[in-house]
Amino acid sequence: MRTEQPKMIYLKDYQVPDYLIDETHLTFELFEDHTLVHAQLVMRRNPDAGAGLPALVLDGQQLELLELKLDDRVLGAADYQLTDSHLTLQPTQEQFVIDSSVRIHPESNTALEGLYKSSGMFCTQCEAEGFRKITYYLDRPDVMSTFTTTLSAEQHRYPVLLSNGNPIASGSEEGGRHWATWEDPFKKPAYLFALVAGDLWCVEDRFTTMSAREVTLRIYVEPENIDKVQHAMDSLKKSMKWDEEVYGREYDLDIFMIVAVNDFNMGAMENKGLNIFNSSCVLAKAETATDAAHQRVEAVVAHEYFHNWSGNRVTCRDWFQLSLKEGFTVFRDAEFSADMNSRTVKRIEDVAYLRTHQFAEDAGPMAHPVRPDSFMEISNFYTLTVYEKGSEVLRMIHTLLGPQLFRKGSDLYFARHDGQAVTCDDFIKAMEDASGVDLTQFKRWYSQAGTPRLEVSESYDAAANTYRLQLRQSCPATPGQAEKLPFVIPLELALLDAQGRELPLQLVGEDKPVGTSRVLQVTQAEQAFTFVNIAEQPLPSLLRGFSAPVKLSFPYSRDQLMFLMQHDSDGFNRWEAGQQLAVQVLQELIGQHQRGELLVLDPRLVAALRSVLENDSLDQAMVAEMLSLPGEGYLTEISDVADVDAIHAAREFARAQLAEALFEPLWARYQANREVSRNTPYVAESAHFARRSLQNIALSYLMLTGKPQVLAAALEQYEACDNMTERLTALAVLVNSPFEAEKAEALKAFAEHFKDNALVMDQWFSVQAACTLPGGLARVQALMQHPAFTMKNPNKVRALIGAFAGQNLVNFHAADGSGYRFLADQVISLNATNPQIASRQLGPLTRWRKYDASRQALMRAELERILASGELSSDVFEVVSKSLA
Ligand code: ARG
Ligand code: ZN
Repeated sequence: MRTEQPKMIYLKDYQVPDYLIDETHLTFELFEDHTLVHAQLVMRRNPDAGAGLPALVLDGQQLELLELKLDDRVLGAADYQLTDSHLTLQPTQEQFVIDSSVRIHPESNTALEGLYKSSGMFCTQCEAEGFRKITYYLDRPDVMSTFTTTLSAEQHRYPVLLSNGNPIASGSEEGGRHWATWEDPFKKPAYLFALVAGDLWCVEDRFTTMSAREVTLRIYVEPENIDKVQHAMDSLKKSMKWDEEVYGREYDLDIFMIVAVNDFNMGAMENKGLNIFNSSCVLAKAETATDAAHQRVEAVVAHEYFHNWSGNRVTCRDWFQLSLKEGFTVFRDAEFSADMNSRTVKRIEDVAYLRTHQFAEDAGPMAHPVRPDSFMEISNFYTLTVYEKGSEVLRMIHTLLGPQLFRKGSDLYFARHDGQAVTCDDFIKAMEDASGVDLTQFKRWYSQAGTPRLEVSESYDAAANTYRLQLRQSCPATPGQAEKLPFVIPLELALLDAQGRELPLQLVGEDKPVGTSRVLQVTQAEQAFTFVNIAEQPLPSLLRGFSAPVKLSFPYSRDQLMFLMQHDSDGFNRWEAGQQLAVQVLQELIGQHQRGELLVLDPRLVAALRSVLENDSLDQAMVAEMLSLPGEGYLTEISDVADVDAIHAAREFARAQLAEALFEPLWARYQANREVSRNTPYVAESAHFARRSLQNIALSYLMLTGKPQVLAAALEQYEACDNMTERLTALAVLVNSPFEAEKAEALKAFAEHFKDNALVMDQWFSVQAACTLPGGLARVQALMQHPAFTMKNPNKVRALIGAFAGQNLVNFHAADGSGYRFLADQVISLNATNPQIASRQLGPLTRWRKYDASRQALMRAELERILASGELSSDVFEVVSKSLA
């Protein structure tokens, strides 16, 4: 908790560390009611930091100092100063050794930062600033040290003792205790430290690297989960192979370990050689995890593994550079997933997520650049902007340079900076040096916040056979940034003729066409491109593959969008045309609802989706994506003032109308796919994901018709399926239906069957929390009393409270403010136990500017109430105060 108002920390104030730590030797004595930590730090003056011997200021929080030595001399209270965040002492030589002993209390650590206990095991989470809750240290990423770690614990309760690097010794002690020593030869910052002690089982495998070294792979889980590890192990081996093939990156230690823990604030953590994962990102098997969960496990395993190079071997100089490792690693894992599954579907999912959530962040009070220039609490900056927009920035560099030069740049980056803590500028410099491309203006993507708008208009000159695209870019003001300079926007496009064929693209001044799909660089506020030898009025296919994270506008008619849906050779843009058509139709319905008119659905949307459904040559996953209407969250994001009730009513009306009009083809598709599912054992592969996704979206439409044969089908699928993907969808359609008896029965049967599986119960909570039928808040409040629910477990908080506030918009935004009051109560309670989770739940309240005056007042009042509620963590204080500013 804060004792005074948290201070803002600025990138411009960065200074190199006064001292360095060459070696770190740690000993942990783990007990039930406390832990003793002894740290020996071999230190020296930083030669880059100037002359003299300034005071040494070590970070340390919530530590009980038992003993402190400088070069074997025990220091007395007069020899150092202690505050609740620092230990300061005066070195007398350039090189010295600090020994400290502290007592800490992992057994009562509910913030899940530093050393803590989860389901009886000891584990750590040090990124970003958790290591200072373990021992006194220079807890900053530009201080890199080798680590030797010895841990001792009761043998019976904690048979497995792990830390980073390679195991070098172990033994038993009297009193039923044992110990193990691990050595990590690679220099690393403290945020990559990890320790685990518990009663764990592991699945072991091997990987032979490109230079024929043998690596042992182990995934540790609680014994009852040992049957849910194979998918993560397969994903790990694929990731190791892919990083060798695509980036030339080889693994460097003899052993790579993953440990699954149940209580974890985030998804996973890339600690050197010892990744610690939220169990939701490791455990997956057909009966308990959905297709989406399987794909998430594959992606997160890859992400953390890829960090071994993009993050660990080359790390960040300071936390403002977080996107250096996160944006790059998200880009790497996205490309990996695209290669393992369907590239177009992966892109569609990522873009839909970015536009709904990151664009909202970029338009709200917490908007910040990919490389922020200030923060109060770094935990608040593990954001969609740093991660997902950061990945889009890397993708644009990849697009501008092309794959070969990009690879040359990444090779140079890793070679040049191996073992160093560097900046985003260093990354860009390596890309520039390897490619010869000047990225000076491009770097504005790192420093300017906000989502650029790109307005495009056209003019065709039939006499001259020229076609001109006129572009205008702008970017709205964001906190602290009133004016923006033009970005470099890679705009991939094609021009289609009346048959949907791509025309050769030749710009004025070029002596011949350069392909039929190409990337133009938009660099000015206003700019025009004129194509020559264009014999008929073309239809442009713009921003193919979403080549830049911008809001594009072009005055397409609905008929033109339908044409693009059918003919665009870029799969992403076929989907995008369908989304834009649906947005136009839904916005029309929203207007009708607001004016109190009868809702009338444009039959062109029905016709467009009918032709998608009847097209057997389309990838089934694409059919499923094209049938998915833009979500309420996205419709909110693109509204000036979001009318929650009109958005919900319009979208539900459209879905119901589509279900009636397309009943026949939906039912045919559903039955055909369910038939295959019934006769095929579960396989976690892309063609099977595709079949089930179409089957499941068809079922969710069909259920809206309320026909008895659909209810029977949902019940059959619910009872007879062999996997969680089909079961959970069947449960969800029942929960959202008016069939009260069947719904109650299914919910009860599900909970009885899965009551001992926490991850499955999370899904059970989420399905109910997201149910938009009236009475949502009361259902959520009742579920908080369920024995399987606890506020102490972040997954539970996300599953129930997060799903309610983030997905159940019509209930959360109830006009009486009850949803807001509820969320504020939960934030106030979490602030005292787990500030990171408290702060993350605030997201929906920070978006108050999107709503009508009455809701704005209610939302602000709740933010004010949180601010006045007592001692706030820096996490919650920063978000609330910035939201009200
Ligand atoms: N580096 C981790 C990852 O992206 C995330 C850790 C975030 N931890 C935190 N306390 N914010 O893979
Ligand atoms: Zn990461």
